[in-house]
Amino acid sequence: MTTTTDEPGPRPGPVPADGHGAPLLEVRDLRVEFHTRDGVAKAVNGVSYRVAAGETLAVLGESGSGKSVTAQAVMGILDSPPGYVTGGEILFQGRDLLKLGREERRRVRGAKLAMIFQDALSALNPVLSVGAQLGEMYEVHRKMPRRRARDQAVELMRRVGIPAARDRAGDYPHQFSGGMRQRIMIAMALALEPDLIIADEPTTALDVTVQAQVMDLLAELQREFTMGLILITHDLGVVADVADKIAVMYAGRIVETAPVHDLYRAPAHPYTRGLLDSIPRLDHKGRELYAIKGLPPNLTAIPPGCPFHPRCPLAQDICRTELPPLAEVAPGRTSACHFWKETLHG
Ligand SMILES: Nc1ncnc2c1ncn2[C@@H]1O[C@H](COP(=O)(O)OP(=O)(O)OP(=O)(O)O)[C@@H](O)[C@H]1O
Ligand code: SF4
Ligand SMILES: [Mg+2]
Repeated sequence: MTTTTDEPGPRPGPVPADGHGAPLLEVRDLRVEFHTRDGVAKAVNGVSYRVAAGETLAVLGESGSGKSVTAQAVMGILDSPPGYVTGGEILFQGRDLLKLGREERRRVRGAKLAMIFQDALSALNPVLSVGAQLGEMYEVHRKMPRRRARDQAVELMRRVGIPAARDRAGDYPHQFSGGMRQRIMIAMALALEPDLIIADEPTTALDVTVQAQVMDLLAELQREFTMGLILITHDLGVVADVADKIAVMYAGRIVETAPVHDLYRAPAHPYTRGLLDSIPRLDHKGRELYAIKGLPPNLTAIPPGCPFHPRCPLAQDICRTELPPLAEVAPGRTSACHFWKETLHG
């Protein structure tokens, strides 16, 4: 694991869709708005993606692009009000989660979906030992007697690499280092063997070496359990080693999707190109780092046409008036740019 974009070796890849041909998760044309005092913020504007069992989708984009809000809508934990899902479908194992009642939704979330957050300290209960918190998952959901649940908890702590797990099971979250706490949160997420995990910036708060260890652990467990993983991150360097495919978001839309290596080799959207050019690469030594000029738009007033046009070095007149559709540009690749050909081959 590095923070550069050196290419990793091949991954075993996703498990094909089940007998019914359905992917594990399919988000279709999802829309989310926040009704705020400043107006309606259009945070998610027609996002579609698919994740198969055993597959890792990385979701990438600058701050405010709608990565977390999309994930919150999938998990059913959107802050509402002020946030509302105003359109789309979230098909999980073939069922639209948006059509489920509150109780059923909660059941699916408990048993089949799990989320890992950036900040373990606020996600874990500060007044309960980690062994008790993990054990509680088995007691409540698996109806295990307390002692057996505790043993399972210790086993899981071992599995995620907590040294002296039995001795440490009685410790509280604040007694662990940031990296160890993140491992505990991974253990919490894995306890009930979910089918899909969403990890929202799971390593951002950690220092670089610990980041790499935690990310490797997550990737290893994801393969072992054949889970789907959605990995939300700012950091293109992190995803190269662990993701199968990438979706790049801008102003609440997906602007490019591609298998991870294709995207690194040749992006098909100027925004992706800007992101790639703004990170250090070993194979580009000596080249000056680029920064995308300007800021992402205010989501209460997204510019007409291509939302990226005020910042795009390739923008032409058409970009200011016509929204480019997310179109297939090669097998398994899409881009929402009027000039994707020039970008891909330029
Ligand atoms: N609770 C909220 N109330 C009002 N608006 C919100 C709320 N949560 C999100 N938003 C709006 O949705 C937009 C997208 O937020 P989101 O958290 O998805 O961004 P992100 O891509 O995850 O960014 P970051 O990389 O900073 O985590 C925000 O810029 C904001 O306009
Ligand atoms: S559509 Fe135009 S403005 Fe948008 S990314 Fe492509 S070239 Fe740039
Ligand atoms: Mg976020």
